[in-house]
Amino acid sequence: MDRQLLPVLLLLLLGASGLQGQGQGPERPSEDLLEDAPGEEVPQEDGILVLNHRTLGLALREHPALLVEFYAPWCGHCKALAPEYIKAAALLAAESATVMLAKVDGPAEPELTEEFGVTEYPTLKFFRDGNRTHPEEYTGPREAKGIAEWLKRRVGSSATRLEDEEGARALMDAGDVVVIGFFQDKDVATFLALARDALDVTFGFTDRPQLFQKFGLSKDTVVLFKKVSWPELRARAEGQVQQPGEFSSHLGAVLGSRVGPGSQAATPQTSRRIFSAKILNHLLLFVNQTLASHRELLAGFREAAPPLRGQVLFVVVDVAANNDHVLRYFGLKAEEAPTLRLVNIETTKKYAPTGGGPISSASVAAFCQTVLSGELKPYFLSQEVPPDWDQRPVKTLVGKNFEQVAFDETKNVFVKFYAPWCSHCREMAPAWEALAEKYRNHEDIIIAELDATANELEAFAVPGFPTLKYFPAGQDRKIMEYKGSRDLESFSKFLDSGGELPAEEPTGHGAAAGFTQ
Ligand SMILES: *[C@@H]1O[C@H](CO)[C@@H](O)[C@H](O)[C@H]1NC(C)=O
Ligand SMILES: *[C@@H]1O[C@H](CO)[C@@H](O)[C@H](O)[C@H]1NC(C)=O
Repeated sequence: MDRQLLPVLLLLLLGASGLQGQGQGPERPSEDLLEDAPGEEVPQEDGILVLNHRTLGLALREHPALLVEFYAPWCGHCKALAPEYIKAAALLAAESATVMLAKVDGPAEPELTEEFGVTEYPTLKFFRDGNRTHPEEYTGPREAKGIAEWLKRRVGSSATRLEDEEGARALMDAGDVVVIGFFQDKDVATFLALARDALDVTFGFTDRPQLFQKFGLSKDTVVLFKKVSWPELRARAEGQVQQPGEFSSHLGAVLGSRVGPGSQAATPQTSRRIFSAKILNHLLLFVNQTLASHRELLAGFREAAPPLRGQVLFVVVDVAANNDHVLRYFGLKAEEAPTLRLVNIETTKKYAPTGGGPISSASVAAFCQTVLSGELKPYFLSQEVPPDWDQRPVKTLVGKNFEQVAFDETKNVFVKFYAPWCSHCREMAPAWEALAEKYRNHEDIIIAELDATANELEAFAVPGFPTLKYFPAGQDRKIMEYKGSRDLESFSKFLDSGGELPAEEPTGHGAAAGFTQ
């Protein structure tokens, strides 16, 4: 449910340590070349070449991309790696990737372990273009998919070149975290090197002016897109979704950053650490990207981001794209853009700016500060009170009349909190109607319902549907949760006992009405 949020890419690009170097192996003359047995068939096991000091040279000549694992028969980590290594070879073969996997029994091949300075097992080295003296140390993951991905990013391009909006959209749909480099002036080499090692991220790049324009960019920038899921977003967003699960959406987190020749790429470790950090406050700028006047606001928005790095995640939501569920979550209409909202994903509290001034770097920073300092009160969604809210037996509550009705000191109020899409809510609806009908003439009893997907309460959050709560008369704002059977008889017993816990049924079944406070 709560996928972690990504901190700024700037760190990833500029604050990182050095690139994986080429050729850590000792420089040694390759005297073995002459010893190769020409025409010798190199044996394979499960799609893995089995090499020795005579066949390594041959394999290097035949395979321009060759990963060699030095293992020892007694090594436990090697045993754990073996099935993954075989699976990785199969994955690569299935995609016709031009890369081969091989293994060498280290203790049985002392010449090779000496030549390549192997001191521990397993050791993996990646050889390019038959270059025996400068293999790259393998530093990637030790599971099949990761191994295959690490290799694919070396034999193919590590980032997809994007020509148009369609390509960009397809790439953004392909991964949970997608980074796109927009480069017109800068060389992409550093960016591609970064992309080789950040395996959990999908990379693309472009120099197309129409894509710069689409994302409101005027200069070279790296933009990170993350599938974001907020607590409760699922419940409040898609009526059809009933299974608990993840509801996520692609939003562009625009992180102004430049990649220049001076910047360095991250190691896999660095990127993992950065990507797992958690930022609880998300600031959203809602704009209609098709409008130039809206796109102009992006620069000021981005400018406000660096001082809040690590505290607030900056997100741009294009209301012209398919982001209706995000608008609903914040109780917004597309016409209200451009506007800002801030949500704390832990408390799910939402904040809106108070003044109606223009959106600028200064106003964005000021808004964030009032939220972070606790000065600004959150807002709660509410529908308008329907004129006939108290005309039917079941009264209609919304955010705006909830306090007044539920905490009325003279009334016992029994409320069903529901979602329009929830099937259990629909199933109990007839019993609820019957209950309201039955107690229609009881002056001190109110049976009510509230659509908790469109109305939020300051007093408590509604965690599931249906939730039934009883608010007995009195001054102490008592709240009881009803957890009994959802039928007329059980509801009636509960009300007749004045919300008191009825005695246990001797038979042990039936109305097991209970409540928690
Ligand atoms: C192997 O690679 C290194 C580093 O890129 C290079 O200096 C060397 O000339 C290469 N050797 C061969 C035989 O291509
Ligand atoms: C975005 O702006 C365009 C151009 O004015 C307009 O046609 C479109 O309806 C707007 N989209 C939304 C969702 O408001």
